[in-house]
Amino acid sequence: MKQPRNKNLSREAMQPISPKWAAQASRRLHAYLDALAASPKLVADDGRLYDVYPVGLTPERAGLLVEVCRSARPRATLEVGMALGVSTLTILEALLEGGPMASRHVVIDPFQQSQWRNAARRSLRLLGVEELVEFYEESSLAVLPRMVGEGRRFDLIFVDGNHRFDYAFVDFRFAHELLTAGGVVVLDDTWLDALHLTVRYAETNLGYTICAAAGRTMGRPAILALRKPAEEPRRGCSHFESCGCQDFVPFFDGPDAVVPVPSEEADLGRRADGMAGVECAEA
Ligand SMILES: C[S@@+](CC[C@H](N)C(=O)[O-])C[C@H]1O[C@@H](n2cnc3c(N)ncnc32)[C@H](O)[C@@H]1O
Repeated sequence: MKQPRNKNLSREAMQPISPKWAAQASRRLHAYLDALAASPKLVADDGRLYDVYPVGLTPERAGLLVEVCRSARPRATLEVGMALGVSTLTILEALLEGGPMASRHVVIDPFQQSQWRNAARRSLRLLGVEELVEFYEESSLAVLPRMVGEGRRFDLIFVDGNHRFDYAFVDFRFAHELLTAGGVVVLDDTWLDALHLTVRYAETNLGYTICAAAGRTMGRPAILALRKPAEEPRRGCSHFESCGCQDFVPFFDGPDAVVPVPSEEADLGRRADGMAGVECAEA
């Protein structure tokens, strides 16, 4: 029989946790993230060290995520793109700071084992918070529509998956279906044309409003939080508000940026091997 893809981190009802346990776990996560910011390398399940940057959220961008969690006080949260786990740990830290979580944080990443060597899940395990995550090792293109079909709803969705336009736009469009009215979607790397255009679409066609921004790259915000309107705008069946961008930045292609590279201290020799022929993974 085919194994369920989220066999370890389940969707079953969460064991109740106490306010004291939540506060302690939040402090543990905070200390771990501080240590990572000071020395940004992580050990994965293969025993090797991986550089947290450039793939992980920088402290400045993570700060926005924390602020949004604090102010939105979401009961249900979802994240696309876990990589080495910086954003997942950040979201958990912020949620637990507010007391026991109402439900597990849902995370989607098809490459946690194959590309990231389970580094994020290892950290979750070490920190004793693995049970607080409902994890899907599948593409968001498969999981998000399934969740729409199941009638699931989230108050906060963080999108940081595949950054090609088609994936980013589809992730956002399904996030829109899954968000509660007044819910918040946070999009990372909004300086990229693909994300910039997605943000413009969200504002002009779906009535989203920007509620927080951080960082600046190529003259654009690096990360943005957008609030879904309380009411769906009325649109005709062929409605389209042109949101074409005159201000596209020069073509950028960063496949290397999404590939984990063991740090030089960990393994000088294999680093060069690992870089050879690297392609952006398909999901
Ligand atoms: C920029 S990284 C995410 C970084 C992470 N949020 C952090 O702060 O550490 C992008 C992630 O998207 C994942 N990804 C790529 N294609 C995906 C897809 N179709 N569905 C979900 N995640 C995907 C990659 O495996 C990678 O982990």
